[in-house]
Amino acid sequence: MDGMSTLRNRVETHPIAGSLGAVVTGVDLSRPMDAHTLAELRTALLDHLVIFFRDQALTPATQLAFARHWGDIHLHPFMTGMPDQPEVLEIRKTPADKRNFGGSWHTDQMFSPKPAMGTMLYAKQVPSVGGDTMFSNQYLAYDALSDGMKRMLARMNAVCVGDKKRGGVSRKDFNAATIAMTTVEPPKDVQTTSVHPVIRTHPETGRKSLYIGNHVHYFEGMTEAESQPLIDYLRAHSVRPEFTCRFPWQNGSLAFWDNRCTQHFAINDYPAETRVMHRVTICGDAPF
Ligand code: SIN
Repeated sequence: MDGMSTLRNRVETHPIAGSLGAVVTGVDLSRPMDAHTLAELRTALLDHLVIFFRDQALTPATQLAFARHWGDIHLHPFMTGMPDQPEVLEIRKTPADKRNFGGSWHTDQMFSPKPAMGTMLYAKQVPSVGGDTMFSNQYLAYDALSDGMKRMLARMNAVCVGDKKRGGVSRKDFNAATIAMTTVEPPKDVQTTSVHPVIRTHPETGRKSLYIGNHVHYFEGMTEAESQPLIDYLRAHSVRPEFTCRFPWQNGSLAFWDNRCTQHFAINDYPAETRVMHRVTICGDAPF
């Protein structure tokens, strides 16, 4: 990755870490977007994996309009969108909440047969300090594995589950006891368990990455007990500090990340304050 690079037009990217992540300047996301700018943003996303925009003034409708340039909108089967804009999920944490949404390393909707390609998160109200989000580069996590491990994982698939019912408690009941955001049982016709390759190939860059978010329950053809030690190893490996960046939010910031080659983690370190974010998730392809 280079230092500050000027893309063809007015879009500039400013990396925030050696591994991934860049702040993009020169774009007002609330305005209609021309094809040239969109192409520059796609290049920035593919190069940096997560791109950040500061000082944006977005409504749910204008955030959604920007998101629609990237594909159809992926609705979260367990969470309910905003009443007048169901494609936008409001992520709200107040001092009354014990947990936060997204507070473990994961990649979005890995339990779906076609997991989300990308996610756009817009900051409406951020705490005075804390509430950052971390990201990890899963190309680097793959590249750093030994050849032997790469060979073994190349033949393996993971069973990814949206509601693991740990201790017999459903996601809906667990969330009801710990966060105020409403969690629902998914419609019966929506698939929330899927089998995906542990090493996936990015459909646009052709690069291989490790695909091991928190929805991985066990490896196909193995028991949970047999799978767990390797899951633990790979999950720890996938978020080594040198693969990560950390984004400090301000009101009006927007992050757009590529779920096909990253994981992210929302840090819960603002117990006495409120954080409100608006999230739109874009449909993706079946991993291969
Ligand atoms: C998420 O996992 O989508 C939420 C991330 C955040 O709130 O920082």
